[in-house]
Amino acid sequence: MHINRVCLPENYTSLFFMNLYQRFPETFIVAEENGKIAGYIMCRIETGISNFKLLGIAKKGHVISIAVLPEHHREGIGSALMQEAMKAMVNYKAKECYLEVRTSNLSAVNLYRKIGFEVARTAKGYYADGEAAKVMAKKLPFAK
Ligand SMILES: CC(C)(COP(=O)(O)OP(=O)(O)OC[C@H]1O[C@@H](n2cnc3c(N)ncnc32)[C@H](O)[C@@H]1OP(=O)(O)O)[C@@H](O)C(=O)NCCC(=O)NCCS
Repeated sequence: MHINRVCLPENYTSLFFMNLYQRFPETFIVAEENGKIAGYIMCRIETGISNFKLLGIAKKGHVISIAVLPEHHREGIGSALMQEAMKAMVNYKAKECYLEVRTSNLSAVNLYRKIGFEVARTAKGYYADGEAAKVMAKKLPFAK
């Protein structure tokens, strides 16, 4: 919760964090460096219309929040958190992964593109301050 508050304007109650942790523990992951938490990712597994038309209705892993402390940026932690969460999504039978990202958040957009995400659509006025979100999605390569 501390890292979330330091890094992002979208903050949540402890109940919200605990709910995601209890329902989807395998995709709630922290990165540690020398025994201290440097970053986290938390996700939800949903059933709905696929971001990839041919799949129809699909189970999807939705990245709700990911952040890494500024002093640990560019060490590969964000990529590692994404890769581990995507592997775990397959355990919940998800076929694809998606997320929303501010159109201005170039570091995050670059990270997602680098690991194979594509922009599925733009959601106008998605954030509380009116900024649009890019909805980015990727088929899960390890899907059974
Ligand atoms: C986005 C974020 C999680 C990336 O974490 P990270 O641990 O620094 O990412 P990585 O070290 O794994 O970087 C992977 C790739 O992302 C891209 N990237 C990361 N930071 C970048 C930056 N400042 N500028 C441009 N590209 C960047 C690069 O392609 C990078 O690969 P490279 O280092 O080989 O060039 C981190 O910047 C962060 O916590 N930001 C604040 C919170 C946030 O925006 N969360 C996402 C909300 S959708």
